[in-house]
Amino acid sequence: MWLHFTLLLFVFIPTINANTFEIDYSNHQFLKDGKAFRYIAGQIEYFRIQPELWQDRLMRLRHAGLNAIQIYVPWNFHETFENQFNFYGMANITAFIKLAQAQNLYVILRPGPYICAEWENGGLPYWLIKKKGIQLRVYNQPYISAVENYFNQLLPIIKPLLYINGGNILMVQIENEYGSYNCDKKYLGFLRDLAKKHLGNDVVLYTTDPPAVIQCGSVDGVFATVDFGVNDDTTVKKNFEIQQKYANGGPIVNSEFYPGWFTVWNYGNATLPTTQKVLDTMNSMYNSNASFSFYMFHGGTNFEFWNGAEVYGAVITSYDYGAPVAENGAITPQYLAIQEWIKKLPNWDSPPLETPPNNPVRGFGTVTMKMTDSLRLAFLLSTTNESCKQTDLPLSFEELDHPYGFVIYSTQLGFVGSTLKAENIKDHGYVYINDKPQGVLVGYIDIFGKRSLPIRNVNKGDILTIIVENRGRQTFLSILDSKGLLPNVTLGNSVITKWSSCPIDLNKIVRTALNISKFENYNPKTDFSEREKNPFDQSGDTAGIYVGSFVITGDITDTWFNPGQFRKGQLFINGNNVGRYWPTGGPQTTLYVPASMLKKNNTVVLIELLGRGTDSTVSFDEKPYFG
Ligand SMILES: *[C@@H]1O[C@H](CO)[C@@H](O)[C@H](O)[C@H]1NC(C)=O
Ligand SMILES: *[C@@H]1O[C@H](CO)[C@@H](O)[C@H](O)[C@H]1NC(C)=O
Ligand SMILES: *[C@@H]1O[C@H](CO)[C@@H](O)[C@H](O)[C@H]1NC(C)=O
Ligand SMILES: *[C@@H]1O[C@H](CO)[C@@H](O)[C@H](O)[C@H]1NC(C)=O
Ligand SMILES: *[C@@H]1O[C@H](CO)[C@@H](O)[C@H](O)[C@H]1NC(C)=O
Ligand SMILES: *[C@@H]1O[C@H](CO)[C@@H](O)[C@H](O)[C@H]1NC(C)=O
Ligand SMILES: *[C@@H]1O[C@H](CO)[C@@H](O)[C@H](O)[C@H]1NC(C)=O
Repeated sequence: MWLHFTLLLFVFIPTINANTFEIDYSNHQFLKDGKAFRYIAGQIEYFRIQPELWQDRLMRLRHAGLNAIQIYVPWNFHETFENQFNFYGMANITAFIKLAQAQNLYVILRPGPYICAEWENGGLPYWLIKKKGIQLRVYNQPYISAVENYFNQLLPIIKPLLYINGGNILMVQIENEYGSYNCDKKYLGFLRDLAKKHLGNDVVLYTTDPPAVIQCGSVDGVFATVDFGVNDDTTVKKNFEIQQKYANGGPIVNSEFYPGWFTVWNYGNATLPTTQKVLDTMNSMYNSNASFSFYMFHGGTNFEFWNGAEVYGAVITSYDYGAPVAENGAITPQYLAIQEWIKKLPNWDSPPLETPPNNPVRGFGTVTMKMTDSLRLAFLLSTTNESCKQTDLPLSFEELDHPYGFVIYSTQLGFVGSTLKAENIKDHGYVYINDKPQGVLVGYIDIFGKRSLPIRNVNKGDILTIIVENRGRQTFLSILDSKGLLPNVTLGNSVITKWSSCPIDLNKIVRTALNISKFENYNPKTDFSEREKNPFDQSGDTAGIYVGSFVITGDITDTWFNPGQFRKGQLFINGNNVGRYWPTGGPQTTLYVPASMLKKNNTVVLIELLGRGTDSTVSFDEKPYFG
């Protein structure tokens, strides 16, 4: 009897209680399990948060009173190299979604394939750029095949996590603000059909566009939504009227409501809306019966080389965004105001919980940094004959199958001239004649562009070296944003040929620097000559690889890295590539270092590109410094 009874429970209960999520087109509403449903969601990204902090950050969103999160899925994070898929560790999207479910947060998923998000290349993998005849984000065979290959991996992982299958994903977006880019309905139709093939016909699919371009961004059989930031009541209503026209009477939705904005190196602070204006717009939206999602509710950090770029400059390492939950998880006044506002909503299904305390943060004092090698020498020594390619014209990052970071180019000059020109360089070039720094080339198409340099004291037979830094690929508009010393480079009036192009393995450089620094009484000057394999390099310049260490006594907490008089480069802590520091570009000075990257004894390595001031210390501070 007992056995029969349990069997019955297992077999029948799930079917009786089957989850449903659908759109009620006659009443402008979502129906969850047959009942009217609306959401106040917050955008948050697993790929900008260390996995150890996923739960902490999701909890903060839930405690504000949100009932859902919106997340992007960056293709290049999961298929960095073609056909090598990664869903482990920080790329374990399943784990993140399940943690959200444990906090009673529904998920609205935005798998692209293009996401923008101020993320490297808008989320598209670098290797697409190499494909012959490719066009991005349209119905183009090489592009479509790559999308299909990726979605064949991703969507089966998503399927069991759908609400209708017992998970918490309510609906799935296709493409992203597509109307801002193009109008290819065959492409959108292809994405719709591919999503349905994997996720089933019952999944709710949607699109998101600014109201002005919704006509091009929407497609038959997919629910159309809009996005917009702070606006007066009249504009809010007008925007929703436009949405309604394309949503066929579906629910009223703003998929991206901006309580903040992103920041670009060299361009100062972003202009942020006041909390009062944010609240006023929330009132207008709520009174229109809208569901909406904050973009961002918690931004996080562009670790490693994952920042994207605008046409005019690169997005900073911090993706704090002026969001209600700050980069380090701190509760802001805006958070408290939104939480208060949600508390007052009648019959809200996800009332705010206790305001979480901020996580502890400490300063760990100053750290003296010692140079182990000049930049040029360290980069040259890290290359091998096998890693370098010898060609007439320099090769791009993509041709070298080197996605991010740096490539070092060199050539022996067969002639001389007084002006070096690299019209198509992307993005920054650190130029040397033999061991003598000549200056920096900048390939931006904006006021900071500097595509030629005067060259001093050059002789036939001298070695010209250009270290090229990829600043992050453009997110919008989508272009084939190839990186490197793109042809042609000229000296005087002649094209320079016979180049060696070598991708830089920064992890190897960091390992080498840490190893060198272990030897006591290590003196860079003498050791340079001992380690010298290249007769041209005796650089005394302060651009180079620097190593330091510090010991934490007491609690290991979050902290803020302050580069002091170092000017621009890449920070590694305990071997982790934290991100770019560039206090001379600004406005960001300090870098957020989560406790999960620290231990008792810590190593710090800087890849300093411009050289430092007279002081060679950095510090780990209790407070961020920004602006
Ligand atoms: C992802 O995390 C889940 C736990 O939620 C775990 O079961 C799974 O094995 C992980 N996947 C990978 C590829 O590590
Ligand atoms: C909001 O929904 C309620 C209940 O369905 C309805 O009475 C009201 O007219 C709607 N308001 C707007 C502005 O659509
Ligand atoms: C590397 O290449 C250089 C020049 O092409 C050559 O002189 C040298 O012998 C090579 N070294 C090795 C180890 O193959
Ligand atoms: C670069 O120079 C080479 C050799 O002079 C020439 O064949 C080629 O067309 C040039 N490419 C560009 C983009 O100017
Ligand atoms: C570390 O440096 C020593 C001395 O130069 C060298 O013998 C050893 O191979 C190096 N180890 C690594 C892992 O690079
Ligand atoms: C940590 O560093 C201290 C001081 O530099 C040293 O005495 C100690 O042995 C180190 N501990 C570990 C576990 O490496
Ligand atoms: C930029 O923003 C930061 C952090 O919000 C603030 O501390 C700083 O004063 C601002 N700088 C300027 C120039 O407005």
